[in-house]
Amino acid sequence: MNARHHITGLDHYWLPFTPNRYFNAHPKLLVSAKGAYYTTDDGRELFDCLSGLWCCPLGHGHPKIVEALTRQAQTLDYSPAFQFCNPVTLSLADRVAAMAPAELTRVFFTNSGSEAVDTALKVAYGFHRLSGEASRMRFIGRERGYHGVGFGGMSVGGMVGNRKMFGPIMIPGVDHLPHTYNLSQMAFSKGQPTWGAHLADELERLVALHDASTIAAVIVEPMQGSSAVVVPPVGYLQKLREICTKHGILLIFDEVITGFGRLGENFGAQRFGVTPDIITFAKGVTNGIIPMGGIIVREEIYQAFMGAGAPPHAIELFHGYTYSGHPMAAAVGHAALDILAGEGLIQRARALEPVLEGAMHALKGEPGVIDIRNMGLAAAIDLDPIPGKPGLRGMKVFERGLEEGLLLRLAGDSIAVGPPFISTDDEIVQMGEGLRRAIKHVMQLGNA
Ligand SMILES: Cc1ncc(COP(=O)(O)O)c(C=O)c1O
Repeated sequence: MNARHHITGLDHYWLPFTPNRYFNAHPKLLVSAKGAYYTTDDGRELFDCLSGLWCCPLGHGHPKIVEALTRQAQTLDYSPAFQFCNPVTLSLADRVAAMAPAELTRVFFTNSGSEAVDTALKVAYGFHRLSGEASRMRFIGRERGYHGVGFGGMSVGGMVGNRKMFGPIMIPGVDHLPHTYNLSQMAFSKGQPTWGAHLADELERLVALHDASTIAAVIVEPMQGSSAVVVPPVGYLQKLREICTKHGILLIFDEVITGFGRLGENFGAQRFGVTPDIITFAKGVTNGIIPMGGIIVREEIYQAFMGAGAPPHAIELFHGYTYSGHPMAAAVGHAALDILAGEGLIQRARALEPVLEGAMHALKGEPGVIDIRNMGLAAAIDLDPIPGKPGLRGMKVFERGLEEGLLLRLAGDSIAVGPPFISTDDEIVQMGEGLRRAIKHVMQLGNA
């Protein structure tokens, strides 16, 4: 690589979710982005196979977003989040609520998915407490789930690497449903696997164990993203919904990845035909250009806070962030939703789904490929791990992918992709073929 000696900051920067020592020895810098491509500091173009970190489905450098940012910076660059609001944020709440299932009407803004999850958990507990059921303190997450890195999200999350260092400081009273992934039953599934709906019955077991009166909410990603695209079995989410309703437990869908079109509908809730009580969102709402997240809740939940009998001048929910509903983020949110609707990009994502499915499943039979799965504009490939060195094969394919012009997403020995909605059919086919070459190359190296 050229000009690497110009890189400064390696002595001071601590990268998140990154092997820092490896990074410092092999730094990777992106210096610009346009459309579906990044450019590296040594001048290579990389196809943005994961839309940033699942967050830039509309591509980079969209003129409408640049224009919205500039206009908003010149008009109202910040307004206090408490006691005041501004027209841009208010009207974005309208638009976000209008995209959600009709029963979900109220939007509370945060700045990230992690904050959205912790907000959702606090609101769920507060709702029960205000409804005279303060004993409902327990949360149920799911193995392999990812709900960000706040104390609540980490505790309901189910990815072992994110949890093992922090056991004693998890929030108490959390249990987990089993994950729904089973290689022997669903290898190479296209879309939703047909096996596994019965795993939702595990919720009945947890209710029997803890008693419904102690459980506040169940939180799941409708499609697990970070643990490499685990698609829910047919009927599974419906069953979870039924069991939650039967026992008065709130159902939270963490739609930080699946919200705003990734599954070819506004939200996963609509794609799967299951309406939760709370949706969390982030990422796509601003196309990832300015941080923003939030929750959308059923009207009854909001009304429980409003009607709790406190005097009218009293704050109903002691929770919020300095940057909740930041006007810059809200302005970008409007631009992103304009683009999503104006350019028909959710329909485009749906139309690209079979193209991605074809491109990824075409890799079945390549040496080392043990599973491929997909739904919407998301897919993952599992590679046979190098014995005794989990994650190394995946890392090698990821590195080789860069030589093929692909910025892939690495998760252990899985490679995930979630290309931008603006991708062409050909770009998606080429992404699959580039990945094939990367896998072939790495497999030829053997287990070294
Ligand atoms: C489902 C889900 N929830 C929460 C988060 C956390 O979001 P953030 O990184 O914005 O805090 C993520 C991030 O990938 C996610 O996929």
